[in-house]
Amino acid sequence: MDFLPVRKLDDILALDKMVQELTCKLSYPMGSLLKIAGRYLPNFGIEVTDQNRAELERSSLTNYFSCWGRAAKVTLEAIKKATTDAGFPVNNSHLNDEVGKMTVDVLMNLARADKTRQFMLTDIGAGDGETTAAVFDAMCNEGAFDLAERCEFLLVEPSEENLWNASKNLRDHRINQEHKVRIATVGGTNHNFLGRIKDGESDVIYSSAVFHHMIFPTYLDRLREGLAADGVLVVGDWYTTIFKHPAFVAEILRNLDIDKPGYAEFLSLFKCSEGDEKRLTQHMDRDEIITNFRMLRYIVTIGQEFQKIPVENRDEFLEGHCSFEDRKVDLESKGFMTEMKQLSGHHGFSKMHTNVRNVDPYGAAKVGAFAKQPILRKQR
Ligand SMILES: C[S@@+](CC[C@H](N)C(=O)[O-])C[C@H]1O[C@@H](n2cnc3c(N)ncnc32)[C@H](O)[C@@H]1O
Repeated sequence: MDFLPVRKLDDILALDKMVQELTCKLSYPMGSLLKIAGRYLPNFGIEVTDQNRAELERSSLTNYFSCWGRAAKVTLEAIKKATTDAGFPVNNSHLNDEVGKMTVDVLMNLARADKTRQFMLTDIGAGDGETTAAVFDAMCNEGAFDLAERCEFLLVEPSEENLWNASKNLRDHRINQEHKVRIATVGGTNHNFLGRIKDGESDVIYSSAVFHHMIFPTYLDRLREGLAADGVLVVGDWYTTIFKHPAFVAEILRNLDIDKPGYAEFLSLFKCSEGDEKRLTQHMDRDEIITNFRMLRYIVTIGQEFQKIPVENRDEFLEGHCSFEDRKVDLESKGFMTEMKQLSGHHGFSKMHTNVRNVDPYGAAKVGAFAKQPILRKQR
């Protein structure tokens, strides 16, 4: 087989189908290549062009949504168990806690600079409301109740069921016992709902464990437009390069016990040889190697746990993770300031020493706060 690279949509979809079929019998199948971060797709022989980008993005969303449709309580329990078993000392709750603290730190700074300002905060991919609950927790811990009453929260989330749970969970939060916090929700099934964030309306947009589901940084255009002139984006996420190269994915497949012919076909399709992953590792730093190793263990453990649950509830492992450095490149190209030296003059960052906090000791989970560039430089 020697037909890569491909750039026409039909050829890309044919390649994707062929590769998915190789792994569909595994307890943890790979799923669609179109869930991998767009910047890494060329490593898989997929050329992203101005002509195919929008279609690839649409296909990616469809793949993500159909995968989430399969997730049940047993799926989430298996994933949670694997997070601990793989040696990650932190999980999404820790990430949420840190997003909550960072958001409230920025907000308190903005509130100090303008004592009468009313704030709009937007939670992207709100899930069951855990991220916003962490913001409420941080406000309670700071005793920032007057500030809470100056805020309105907008929760953006594609799953109506999640949104319903989020509204209920947040209404019951202890902050609402004596104070009334205004909460609104926006639901939708794809990127359209981002279009319902009004221009310049949000003072702080925050999001936890969501952006690694978006393969192109197009969503950052809308978020930037949605922010006030001095608005801040707080992002908590998981960073890994385990899906960056087919040699790494081959290593995962081998550990998930793919059959020999399937493994050989995967290697030959992407022109990889056994051991390529070791060669690629030589150019990586210690934290990246350790994170990818734990990700491998995490995926293999989920594969073992999935053997105990019904096939229809099994998820697929590819996702749109990237390195933190690559995320910063996306943010900068879309008009965000990412470095503390640029942010030190911004009133949202007063007295802050750093705008990026490690949640995981090896940098697999981080929270960063990034301000809108006052004037958008020419986009690449
Ligand atoms: C891992 S959950 C995180 C939920 C919540 N932020 C938390 O940390 O508890 C990811 C959430 O992102 C939502 N999501 C997925 N794709 C999205 C998109 N394109 N835009 C916004 N949210 C999305 C999913 O529905 C899901 O609720």
